[in-house]
Amino acid sequence: MFSTLSAYAGDPILSLQLAYRDDERADKVNLSIGLYYDEQGRIPRLNSVQEAAKVVNASTAPCVYLPMSGSPAYCRAAQGLVFGADSEALQAGRVATIQTLGGSGALKVGADVLRRFFPGSAARISGPTWDNHRAILEGAGFEVDVYPYFDHASQRLDFDAMASYLRTQPEQTVVVLHPCCHNPTGAELSTQQWDEIVAIVIERRLIPFLDLAYQGLGESFERDAYLVRALASANVAFLVANSFSKIFSLYGERCGSLSMVCANADEASRALGQMQQAVRRNYSSPPAHGGHLVETVLLDPALRAMWEAEVAEMRGRIHEMRGRLHEGLLRHHPDYDWGFLLAQSGMFSYAPVLAPHMDRLIQAHGVYIIESGRICIAGLNNQNVDRVAKAFASVLKEATAA
Ligand code: LMR
Repeated sequence: MFSTLSAYAGDPILSLQLAYRDDERADKVNLSIGLYYDEQGRIPRLNSVQEAAKVVNASTAPCVYLPMSGSPAYCRAAQGLVFGADSEALQAGRVATIQTLGGSGALKVGADVLRRFFPGSAARISGPTWDNHRAILEGAGFEVDVYPYFDHASQRLDFDAMASYLRTQPEQTVVVLHPCCHNPTGAELSTQQWDEIVAIVIERRLIPFLDLAYQGLGESFERDAYLVRALASANVAFLVANSFSKIFSLYGERCGSLSMVCANADEASRALGQMQQAVRRNYSSPPAHGGHLVETVLLDPALRAMWEAEVAEMRGRIHEMRGRLHEGLLRHHPDYDWGFLLAQSGMFSYAPVLAPHMDRLIQAHGVYIIESGRICIAGLNNQNVDRVAKAFASVLKEATAA
């Protein structure tokens, strides 16, 4: 019956994670998947989350199904973080939010709702983007194409090309945007450039679909959500998928949210209903445990302050490691212009120059990056950064010599 099933080639990010796990070398370094490791090379259990777990685990309440839209307290907490506590859109009740299975679940539910109500729309993703964007949108039935984003020659954002392309798009085109910490490039828009994109979105009547997976790991919670707040105050209708995986170090709990920002509260209540229906059709309701941890931290002032400090520490460490990698590369390969690393920000750096050498980096050096040349800066620490810089330099020099 199933003889016609073809083999799955595997996911470019998740397959490497398995290969890394099975690698027995003690000095292996994981710079492939977007995981934050601490200075000791461990995936941290945040203190704020440990404290919240004491409260959550002490509860004797029965573990019933959550509503399709998840825990109301969780949704309120997620809204406050994403939109800002004083958001006019929140106060007007024109934002509908559901708890989702991580950021991916939010993207899937949002894509299903959009596809149902905008069957004639196409979707546009940045070139390059997170691999799963295309898969999720195509899986929902969208025709997907790429808008220019990154200029390989200068290894920097190509804003003019991005803006010109978006100006040519038909009304109601769905455009996936990364408000901060662009994955995979780390190339960011300035606030002025985001303002220009907002103007284009309004002029062309586009539908922005924001993927906010790293809020707080770029510059600050507020700055990283600049685009969200600019669109909301410009009265644009849009969607935002957020993920708590990285910023709570709760990857396996699958905690995220999806918000639809509408013109008014009546529209928002219908948007909520459509998201609930999409959830019911896909997985019925989200899991409870991780969401309780997140809402407990976000809604308790002391735990929240503790958590914000922990995120600030992660952000600071990533920033420091970016600088240390840059220094190491200058030392081991001074002939190459590594300046682009410092121009990028967030969890990732994008070095397409390393892409052809991924296999060699893994086999000869035990350094895992993904095939596009994306490097997860958050996997570096003071013990491994120089070795990584040396490995990068060595594969590039070998290639030049060959
Ligand atoms: C990544 O980009 O590495 C992460 O978002 C993990 C994933 O699911 O791909």
